[in-house]
Amino acid sequence: MADSINNNRAQFATRLGIIATTVGSAVGLGNIWRFPYEAGNNGGGAFLLCYILCIVILGIPVLCAEFAIGRSTQSNIFGAFRALKASGKWHWVGYIGILASIMILSFYSVVAGWTMEYLYQSIVGGLNFKNIDAFHSHFSTFSTSNWRPIMWTVLFLLCNYIIVVRGVKKGIEKMSNIMIPALFVLLIIFCINSLMMPNASEGLTFLFTPDFSKITPKVVVSALGQAFFSLSLGLGTMMTYGSYFSKDTHIVRSATITASLDTLVAILAGLIIFPAVFSFGMSPVQGPALVFEVLPSIFAQMPGGQIWSILFFFLLFLASLSSTISMSEVSIAFLSEEKKMSRTKASTLNLAVALVGGVLSALSFGYLSNLNFFGLFDINFFNFFDFTSSNILLPLGGMLISIFAGWILERSRLKDTLTNGGKIGVRTFSLLVLCLKYLAPICIMLIFLLGLGIF
Ligand code: PHE
Repeated sequence: MADSINNNRAQFATRLGIIATTVGSAVGLGNIWRFPYEAGNNGGGAFLLCYILCIVILGIPVLCAEFAIGRSTQSNIFGAFRALKASGKWHWVGYIGILASIMILSFYSVVAGWTMEYLYQSIVGGLNFKNIDAFHSHFSTFSTSNWRPIMWTVLFLLCNYIIVVRGVKKGIEKMSNIMIPALFVLLIIFCINSLMMPNASEGLTFLFTPDFSKITPKVVVSALGQAFFSLSLGLGTMMTYGSYFSKDTHIVRSATITASLDTLVAILAGLIIFPAVFSFGMSPVQGPALVFEVLPSIFAQMPGGQIWSILFFFLLFLASLSSTISMSEVSIAFLSEEKKMSRTKASTLNLAVALVGGVLSALSFGYLSNLNFFGLFDINFFNFFDFTSSNILLPLGGMLISIFAGWILERSRLKDTLTNGGKIGVRTFSLLVLCLKYLAPICIMLIFLLGLGIF
């Protein structure tokens, strides 16, 4: 059965464009901000090992499934399940995706806002401190203040709005074509710089020598969440991007390249941060502040530091934008294609909800930091959105997508899509089906139970 190609749908222009755009969605704050802080909090090497296993065994197969479902149906996550004649219940995967995308957009915009503040401070020369303690207090004064983080969050969401409201696929493709390679080059330079610092080897040991006794349920749950978060998986983003693939895109190869490049960026970020952390005599357990304290300290020590800092925060801002554009597409495609709203209305609604979530998340470090729910438990919106989306909703969505692809989608259709109608051979097809049918659903379920303390 050939793919039903809808000619009105935009497609990516070139093969490089496909990779750059999917990598553009995958690479972002997840790699450069979230990976180092999660690795730092969860024992370094132990976390990295679990993370890589999750990417290979669960991430790549689910990524192939999302691409395949998207391209084969040429539709968003709701339309895709309808086109595949799945029962109404499968719509819930779409609702999970929308909820996850809104939650992620909320807290992600706050961190993207921090990036904008650091870009601004680099330009005006406001990051000229002499030691790590000064960077530490600078970050905590800024992040706990009430209006400045909100201002940047709102500004970031407006940038995102201006792009998504126009639906500019071509613009994203062009931007990613330049931004991703430039980011790579910069990261490699910083990496070499960090590796030459005194005590750098302690950082390498921390990141690459797994201490098996540190592999706890919390570490495994966090690694799974990080893998799905970093690959933009489980919420239909990659399904939507798959629907823009041309009919000769090699899906399995694209998924493997995307996952490899994404993991490479995370490891490069680790190779920049951890040698520096140990060289500065810091503890790696700093939480969300880690990267915003360590990176500016590194730049301050480099010759031409201000230029490096401006370049880096600018590229990180673009990388965050290409990620939020892709996550916004989940709810906008739903509202415009399923609920028949105009693109402007859909984008505005998405913006309005994200603004509320974004402000609540931004205030979680300052005014709302000690919020208590009727004396029952503490609520920190930032952590709540981050934890619920990455560690629960995305793996849940990914599990359901793999069950769908492994058990419900006609095998011939899956094979036809992955082999481009028989034109290319996919040697790993049986292995992939095995992962989607058994391995991914069972592993994700086990990790959930483990996280709930059932084992
Ligand atoms: N993968 C992106 C990152 O690492 C975040 C993201 C999650 C983007 C979910 C889209 C959907 O920064």
